[in-house]
Order: sequence, then C-alpha cells, then structure tokens
Amino acid sequence: MQQIKSDFRQEAEGKIEGADSKTVAPNESVQRQGKLIVGNCVDIMRSWPADIIQLTVTSPPYDKLRDYKGYQFPFEDIADELYRVTAPGGVLVWVVGDRINGGRSLTSFRQAIYFQEIGFSAHDVMIYQKKNTPFMRSNAYTNAYEMMFVLSKGKPTTFNPLKVPTQRHGMELLTHNKLPDGINKKKRGELKKEKTRTNIWSYAVGLGGTTRDKIAFQHPAVFPEKLAEDHIKSWSNPGDLVLDPMCGSGTTGKMALMHDRDFIGIDISPEYIEIARQRLADVGLPVEMRQSA
Ligand SMILES: C[S@@+](CC[C@H](N)C(=O)[O-])C[C@H]1O[C@@H](n2cnc3c(N)ncnc32)[C@H](O)[C@@H]1O
Repeated sequence: MQQIKSDFRQEAEGKIEGADSKTVAPNESVQRQGKLIVGNCVDIMRSWPADIIQLTVTSPPYDKLRDYKGYQFPFEDIADELYRVTAPGGVLVWVVGDRINGGRSLTSFRQAIYFQEIGFSAHDVMIYQKKNTPFMRSNAYTNAYEMMFVLSKGKPTTFNPLKVPTQRHGMELLTHNKLPDGINKKKRGELKKEKTRTNIWSYAVGLGGTTRDKIAFQHPAVFPEKLAEDHIKSWSNPGDLVLDPMCGSGTTGKMALMHDRDFIGIDISPEYIEIARQRLADVGLPVEMRQSA
C-alpha cells in the first residue's frame, strides 16, 4: 500500500517520467487519490507488489450474459492476482449472478470455491436483492438476487457493522432462558435502539436507484452506488486503498473517493474507462488516467 500510495504522490507531483496523467482535482487540499487504468487487470496487477489492497469491490462479466465488446475473462488468473495483491486482513467483495437459461450455470459457486481453494476465507456469502426488475421465469420463481461473496485474506482487519433501527427499544421486562424448573424468568433490561443488519441487502435498480448519473448507463451492467458504499464503509477505513479491477462505469471508485479512500480502477475497455473518468469528474472527484500499468 505504501508503495502505491507513494506512486500516487510522486505522480501527482510530476516526478514519474512518462506519466500520461490527466488530473481533475478541484480541491487541492483533499488527500484522496483516484487512478483509472485501461488494460487487462491480470497484467496490471502482476506489475504490483503483494499485499497492498485493503478492499476490492468488483463484479465480473457474468457468463457472457452481456456484450462487453468481446474482451476475454481469465477468471483463475484474476482470482490468483487478487489474492496476491490483497493485504493480510483485506477483503474482496465479488458480486456475481448466474446465467439462467434452462437451469442455473452455478458459475458463481464454482468461482467462490476456487477463491477458497487459493487461500481466501469465505467470510460471508451475502445476497444482493433487487427491489425491482427481477428476472421472470415461466417454470420457476422470479429471480431477484445476485450473490455477494465476501472473501478475506485471513481474519478481516476491519468490520464497521452497518446498523438498522430496532422495532422496540428502551427498558422492558425481558424473558430469560428457562431454568430446569421450567419457569420463565423475567428481568428488567434494555432493548437497544439499533442492531446489526442482516446479510441480505436490498437495492432499487435502474435510473434513480442504481445511480442518478445518466452517463453510467452507457455501461450495460452497473451495480448500485449504495451497494458499493455499504461494502466500502463496512470493510475499510478512510485512507485505505480500494480496488476495482473491472471497474466499468466507475461505481466503486465514486463511492470510495466520496468516503475518503484512495482508489484504483482498471477496465479492459477504453470506452468504459472514459465513462468512469467522466462520471467521477462530473462530481468533482480527483482522478488520473493511465493507458497501462
Ligand atoms: C459487470 S461489469 C462491471 C460494472 C461495474 N461494477 C459498474 O458498476 O459499472 C464487468 C467489467 O469487466 C470488464 N472486464 C472484462 N474482462 C476484463 C479484464 N480482463 N480486465 C479488466 N476489465 C475486464 C468489462 O469491460 C466490464 O466493464
């Protein structure tokens, strides 16, 4: 992390020769640093040192469901590199759905098992529930979710649990477990005002739900800003380095920078990187552009 961070600083000061960078930094006093790189994420990550990324929030192409301009998707190479660059205690959030055509492809599970085989801990398997536009099936229940595999390199160093308000709170007579005499004991105790969320997260999708940034929809598969934001707040702290190696329209980058994390985004498509650049610049977030590592 230190080396990448120092690269950021050196480039910002113009000390690295040939840095083909275009900086949009309206507020020079802000320390956040965003970098967008066009290229195959495997090649780019291979040029980095190990153990530098605190959090990755990403979503791969799903079973060739969408046309991503014909680019290749070397899953195992990407997974291996993600493991290598993740810092001890760092987290990878892998958001993925299956192709449903006759039956489910189960690619998501195969990928999760591969991640576990190479050393990640399957810290949690979360659900991204879509509040609208679910996928209708004539002979099965309507599909309304994708998986969010939360994979960690060792025990996660950071967990900032997101909370929801409880239905009832304050002092009440609370029932304790029955003792062998079979009688319920009651004792005055306090019900808390909030509790930790469940691992099923629901988001509206489409314009206004996924994002209000119209430009983002020039990409075919954007995930909700709130989804990225919730993971960033949960598994990282301000100042941490957040990665999206297949960043598409730049959703993870937007939320990482807005929450005072540094960010590196990679996409194989120059068109998608340009969408991300424009989207971040539109909201005044600092971003540098690179053609390759
Ligand atoms: C599901 S989309 C990501 C969308 C993104 N989460 C967003 O909110 O806009 C997957 C992206 O992976 C990119 N991609 C596919 N193979 C890649 C590779 N080998 N290296 C880098 N990016 C790749 C595609 O161009 C596509 O933009």
